[in-house]
Amino acid sequence: MNYNIAVISGDGIGPEIVAEAKKVLGKIEVKYGHKFNYTEVLMGGISIDVHGVPLTEEALSTAKESDSVLLGAVGGDVGNSKWYGVAPNLRPEAGLLALRKGLSLFANIRPAYLYQELKSACPLKDEVIGDGFDMVIMRELTGGIYFGERKTEEVNGIIKATDILTYDDEEIRRIAIRGFDIAMKRRKKVTSVDKANVLDSSRLWRKVVTEVARDYKEVELEHMLVDNCAMQLVKNPRQFDVILTENMFGDILSDEASMITGSIGMLSSASLGKTKQGMYEPSHGSAPDIAGKNLANPIATILSAAMMLRYSFDLDEEAGAIESAVIQVLKDGYRTVDIMSDGFSKVGTCEMGDLIADRI
Ligand code: NAD
Ligand code: IPM
Ligand code: MN
Repeated sequence: MNYNIAVISGDGIGPEIVAEAKKVLGKIEVKYGHKFNYTEVLMGGISIDVHGVPLTEEALSTAKESDSVLLGAVGGDVGNSKWYGVAPNLRPEAGLLALRKGLSLFANIRPAYLYQELKSACPLKDEVIGDGFDMVIMRELTGGIYFGERKTEEVNGIIKATDILTYDDEEIRRIAIRGFDIAMKRRKKVTSVDKANVLDSSRLWRKVVTEVARDYKEVELEHMLVDNCAMQLVKNPRQFDVILTENMFGDILSDEASMITGSIGMLSSASLGKTKQGMYEPSHGSAPDIAGKNLANPIATILSAAMMLRYSFDLDEEAGAIESAVIQVLKDGYRTVDIMSDGFSKVGTCEMGDLIADRI
């Protein structure tokens, strides 16, 4: 089959990690007889440099017309980069948000799974890790504080900045349904994370999630406050199956969850809407501190490409082949620097891509 993929390499380590994902997909083409047609799309800092805006209308149209989008990462050093002294809607990240909104990708799935081979890279104690953990963070992606009104004003010498957090019941219901659907295929437990002791939006969140749960009698629903969840993730990560949460809480908790898998360089993600089209990207950023040095771990991006094959193209066997190749490379003892520990062989971004492609 032929598949049209919009590729956004982006900034920083983006081009390096996307190149490795394409290398692995190239092996899938050969082995399984598919054809992946790539259209390069500019987004983020590179689009600002070329077009003056983080996402052009044309780039958005190309993404909309594709079967799916594969993304590296966008953005620069927020404190120092030339891209940040401007209005929020002209910064690199605004391109990413416009793309998520423009493609209506409201459901962001971030699986956090501890590979047995990476136990030594996990900062938690052995007795906490036990025989490992396996959770999915289901993050709402097109609502909440990321998309509310935002302004900075100066009145009588006082500078005031405002970001508004809004959710309506329909936005909550559709992501909750996705969370429960995924739980039905897993260990049938949903932990809905909110701040209902303070926020009205969280009280509505809790009410709607509780209503949705009535249609999923087999699924155990638990509510947890977000500060407690941040603590529980390191105290006892094995308690979690599906964590269902709003946009910003999901952003923060997924970075935390990624670290207990060994490194943020391991955490893949799929952003989905109502159609088969999706956007697939690692959960991490453009890592300006290591860009261009062949140091970045490409596994999160490679696993995101596997998610693309599974969720957008229904190519389960091919997705499984990539996932098995990743496990095999870890078993064979190869590590990028972020997951390195004593006794393993240190490899760079490019070599890690080669090693995974070789095992398909
Ligand atoms: P980051 O995730 O880029 O980096 C945090 C730390 O993790 C850094 O030390 C980095 O070197 C390391 N790291 C990240 N990915 C890695 C990988 N694959 N292999 C090895 N180490 C890795 O977060 P940040 O530094 O807070 O943000 C940098 C820029 O990235 C900002 O402009 C931010 O807005 C952007 N960002 C973009 C995305 C995205 O495009 N989806 C996501 C997060 C952050
Ligand atoms: C992520 C990133 C983005 C987010 C930024 C770059 C807008 O941190 O994908 O996790 O906050 O959603
Ligand atoms: Mn993030």
